[in-house]
Amino acid sequence: MDTFIIEGGTRLQGHVKISGAKNASLAIMPTCLLAPGHFHLSNTPNNRDVWTFSRLLGSLGVHAELNDNILHLDSSNITSFEAPYEHVKKMRASIYVLGPLLSRYGQAKVSLPGGCNFGPRPVDLHLKGMEKLGAEITLEGGYINARAPKGRLQGARFHFDISSVGASVNVIMAAVLAQGHTTLTNAALEPEVTSLARMLNKMGAKIEGIGTTTLEIQGVDELKPVNEETIPDRIEAATFALAAALTRGNVTLDNVNPYHLTSVVQKLEESGATVDVTGESMQVTMDDDPEPVDITTATYPGFPTDTQAQWAAYMLRAKGSARITDTIYPTRFGYVPELHRLGASIEGGDAYCIVKGGHKLTGATVMSSDLRASASLVMAAMIAEGTSEVLRVYHIDRGYESIEKKLNSLGARIRRERAKEE
Ligand code: UD1
Repeated sequence: MDTFIIEGGTRLQGHVKISGAKNASLAIMPTCLLAPGHFHLSNTPNNRDVWTFSRLLGSLGVHAELNDNILHLDSSNITSFEAPYEHVKKMRASIYVLGPLLSRYGQAKVSLPGGCNFGPRPVDLHLKGMEKLGAEITLEGGYINARAPKGRLQGARFHFDISSVGASVNVIMAAVLAQGHTTLTNAALEPEVTSLARMLNKMGAKIEGIGTTTLEIQGVDELKPVNEETIPDRIEAATFALAAALTRGNVTLDNVNPYHLTSVVQKLEESGATVDVTGESMQVTMDDDPEPVDITTATYPGFPTDTQAQWAAYMLRAKGSARITDTIYPTRFGYVPELHRLGASIEGGDAYCIVKGGHKLTGATVMSSDLRASASLVMAAMIAEGTSEVLRVYHIDRGYESIEKKLNSLGARIRRERAKEE
């Protein structure tokens, strides 16, 4: 696995183009299973998770090709209804093929995702939702076997006990081709979910209430392929915004949707940074150390769990202590012991950590444990004195397109050392 060698003490300055949202791509790619034909998805980020999902779709018979951030999917000839362990183990979102396969073909076999680096992440809500729509589900040999009796799901009322991005994505895709009417309550509001719902309506689905937690879905008999532009990545944008402020820089992020970033921007401003929005660009300027600001993660439009590790890195420079609480994934603090290796002072607790800002950081070797944790390590290494090595940047490559190139174009000094076996 590749390693980043990072020289600390750099300041970020300039313009950077934010890519399409990884999590939105993963949600809209499986829509090709709902209608046969050609889809062109522009602004698709060129990252590992997109490659993994393309390979998974390929194993189902979809022809997938990514050129210049345009993903072309041809789903004219679906040949399999099974998502094998080999793909699902690499990426939990592989379970997104369950809803569309079941809905369109009345059958699906999908490997259970299992745990991940920040604790158990169950899929019970995905399965309950499908069962509510009439699916018969059995778990056997690590696989979810699902069938729609008489080949078609039936509309129903379903309440998500917990607001879940993944379960909402899956159940919405299952409901659009079900027979009859479905009402979903407490559906997730994340932009990745609403962008999926909008695309489905373009394909001919009948979904009302988009942008609210209650979705009324009238099932239709068929859908048609469409072209769609992937929404900008709010997490990548937040990462660059925080990296800019952390390095006391001045960076303009282009291709962002500022509305998707409100909670993060507000916290940035509280910390003393200046954020100027012009259309789809956002300029972040900081010329001091930040004030300590606590954050607590919440479902959208709250502060994203996918940005808490980066906030912790930002607070390493704060003029005091800041508390980071994660209510969505309480054990998502794998980056804390690694930041300690750079000299950070962070106290861990149950679902929170307290970052004591202002301690001198010095370069060290640190290990990425998950995607956003790696982003936080890269950020911290950029303000540490001397050279750091961030191992297993495989994780960061899952969700960021060419992150080192983008950071280097802003003045960072990051070198990728390719793993020998690759
Ligand atoms: C998605 C994002 C991930 C982000 C997370 C929360 C993708 C591909 N991934 O993950 O980057 O961190 O949203 O914004 O978009 N839960 C259950 N049962 C379920 C499903 C979820 O109990 O069946 C719980 C989870 O354990 C968690 C909470 O619901 O505590 C929210 O998780 P969820 O929104 O489902 O996260 P993902 O869709 O896996």
